[in-house]
Amino acid sequence: MKYLVTGGAGFIGSALCHRLMQAPDAHVTVVDKMTYAANPASLEAFAGDSRFCLVKADICDLSRMLELVLHEAPDVIFHLAAETHVDRSIDGAEAFVQTNLIGTFAMLQAARALYERGDKPGFRFVHVSTDEVFGSLGPEGRFDETTAYDPSSPYSATKAGADHLARAWHRTYGLPVLVSNCSNNYGPRQFPEKLIPLMVLNALEGQTLPVYGDGSNVRDWLHVEDHANALVRIAEAGLAGECYAVGGDSEKTNMEIVTLVCELLDARRPGDAPHSRLIEFVEDRPGHDQRYAIDASKIRQDLGWTPRRDFAKGLADTIDWYLANEAWWRPLRDAVYAGDRLGKVRA
Ligand SMILES: NC(=O)c1ccc[n+]([C@@H]2O[C@H](COP(=O)([O-])OP(=O)(O)OC[C@H]3O[C@@H](n4cnc5c(N)ncnc54)[C@H](O)[C@@H]3O)[C@@H](O)[C@H]2O)c1
Repeated sequence: MKYLVTGGAGFIGSALCHRLMQAPDAHVTVVDKMTYAANPASLEAFAGDSRFCLVKADICDLSRMLELVLHEAPDVIFHLAAETHVDRSIDGAEAFVQTNLIGTFAMLQAARALYERGDKPGFRFVHVSTDEVFGSLGPEGRFDETTAYDPSSPYSATKAGADHLARAWHRTYGLPVLVSNCSNNYGPRQFPEKLIPLMVLNALEGQTLPVYGDGSNVRDWLHVEDHANALVRIAEAGLAGECYAVGGDSEKTNMEIVTLVCELLDARRPGDAPHSRLIEFVEDRPGHDQRYAIDASKIRQDLGWTPRRDFAKGLADTIDWYLANEAWWRPLRDAVYAGDRLGKVRA
């Protein structure tokens, strides 16, 4: 099998590459612009492996994507490349509009050219999206594949637009597109601007742990390896034109997450305990969605996927990974992002 993974040097994309490369016959080409969010160290396990190739390119470059996709002729394109941080989208939405909308358009056009060439009848395009496209839930209910789109942030609005393009390329051109809408991921190799790695690294360095608003916002957490398995199942067995909601049945408030991180670090670094003394409530994110939760019945029943990772154990393993892999994150903290507040100003 030949796979092309856009955004493969990012958090979920690199986890997917590790999952795909477990199959001895898998060939993986990553297309990544290597933005601030990419880390070549996430893919160093495949250095020198003839089954793996990293192409530095911008998915917005339509002629380059056409040439690359037609030349590589993958069986599956997993499209993950995106600008992904909500706070950065509040400060500057343009890169989000470019990559998430124009870039998705270019990937769909390139995929269409390959599919219409006719020599890859089993071709599939897996468009990787988020539950944030559905907006905010109250205390009850969960998102599923029938939930209406209602995005709140520039990030989620561009992801919603990209989902609509992907669905339209199926309905209009018959491109075998499958869409996944997944909840919040955690695990190794996540860029330390996102909640869990930011809290872990700030706590390790004795910096404050900023909790937005009153910390009551709820997210449904899924280990990145479970997400990678879901994407593989969708590519293998999903129905073209269908969407799949993916989640871990693991709802936690942000405050619960930060408290758990502190407790796990107290056990590992007792000399600095209690790490909870570093918690500081800060001004909320503008347009902060209150709650996300996923009803993943469809992918569980139709595709036999189920999350394997228990959250408490998965979080402990994640913290241990950051403790053991300072060489992965230290250059990011020192030279790319030191943990300062983003996305505060209401436009
Ligand atoms: N992180 C989550 O919790 C989550 C949940 C559901 C869905 N998703 C979606 O999964 C995908 C991957 O998310 P992530 O958390 O791994 O993101 P990430 O920010 O860690 O990685 C994104 C990758 O895309 C690359 N990229 C950005 N712009 C590009 C461009 N123009 N051309 C080529 N490459 C480009 C970056 O260099 C980076 O390697 C995204 O589409 C995101 O919307 C993320």
